[in-house]
Amino acid sequence: RNYRSRTECRGDINRLNAPFLAIYESLIPAEEEKQKQKQLMALLDKHVKEEWPGARLFLYGSCANSFGFRKSDIDVCLAIGDADINKSEILLKLADILKSDNLENVQALTRARVPIVKLMDPVTGISCDICVNNLLAVINTKLLRDYSKIDVRLRQLAFIVKHWAKSRGVNETYQGTLSSYAYVLMCIHFLQQRSPSILPCLQDMEITYSVNVDNVKCSFFDQVEKLQGFGSRNGESIAQLVWAFFNYWAYCHDYANDVISIRTGSIVSKRAKDWTRRIGNDRHLICIEDPFEVSHDLGRVVDKRSIRVLREEFERAAEIMQHDPNPCVKLFEPY
Ligand code: GTP
Ligand code: MG
Repeated sequence: RNYRSRTECRGDINRLNAPFLAIYESLIPAEEEKQKQKQLMALLDKHVKEEWPGARLFLYGSCANSFGFRKSDIDVCLAIGDADINKSEILLKLADILKSDNLENVQALTRARVPIVKLMDPVTGISCDICVNNLLAVINTKLLRDYSKIDVRLRQLAFIVKHWAKSRGVNETYQGTLSSYAYVLMCIHFLQQRSPSILPCLQDMEITYSVNVDNVKCSFFDQVEKLQGFGSRNGESIAQLVWAFFNYWAYCHDYANDVISIRTGSIVSKRAKDWTRRIGNDRHLICIEDPFEVSHDLGRVVDKRSIRVLREEFERAAEIMQHDPNPCVKLFEPY
């Protein structure tokens, strides 16, 4: 482990709670945005049901997992029961249907990694991407949302980390840095690991919710209202947690050997997962296990160059949190 690893946090850390909470509050979407999303979903639902009566629409991603900022676009999944459908055909058909309404910029992108229909609704001003049968994303959205209901510090920490990542240009998967989804998993893992823990491991508890999707069994404890107060034995403040989060990823995480896993609520070894060598384009330079697709490393987008960028940004953030007189400004300075 790095010699710079610290256990002692600056003495005036709690002075930073109010400014961090103010940033968090400023990023939370307004209630009227939720109403507009519902309005657009109702419109889309009407069109979809006319063409495919058995189909259903689900919101997923940041608009539904509780980690979305204000004025974000929405992600929608069209669930069509039939297993052997042709996604491209469905998307082209869907685009046709939606073009007939007064929606703007309707486009089917059938060759994308995740094929989608894109559109903009001039009435609500919301842009949206619609994919087909991506149900694992719908389920992991529910898992993240359920975690966020247990302790408010998760949502606060994840908002600050996402805001930092967006400001510093390290939330760009096509440039080899991490997705928002990956950052939220890092925050959940981090809060599971605090002592006493701030979050439990929902996949390691009594099963109250279970579905099979694409041959993956997704089951966990979802009666999270029963877990209110779970983290209250841990009194760490948001500023202390932001400090410790960056300190962990800068100086404590063992990049050579460890995989973070919210599924198990702990660290698993790269060796146990056979993630020690490069296979194809998967280099496993920072390992974040997907909670359901366990062979899936959310760090797979990271390459030799971008791992350096990421680790330098973690170190920069850790140093700012430790020494800077005004971390709440410096941390989010555009890169
Ligand atoms: P924003 O940056 O605020 O838009 O956050 P987001 O949560 O919508 O971002 P992101 O594009 O990272 O993820 C959208 C959803 O796709 C996630 O919430 C997951 O449900 C799902 N997802 C599943 N697997 C992956 C994956 O490998 N990469 C990404 N990016 N998303 C995945
Ligand atoms: Mg999104």
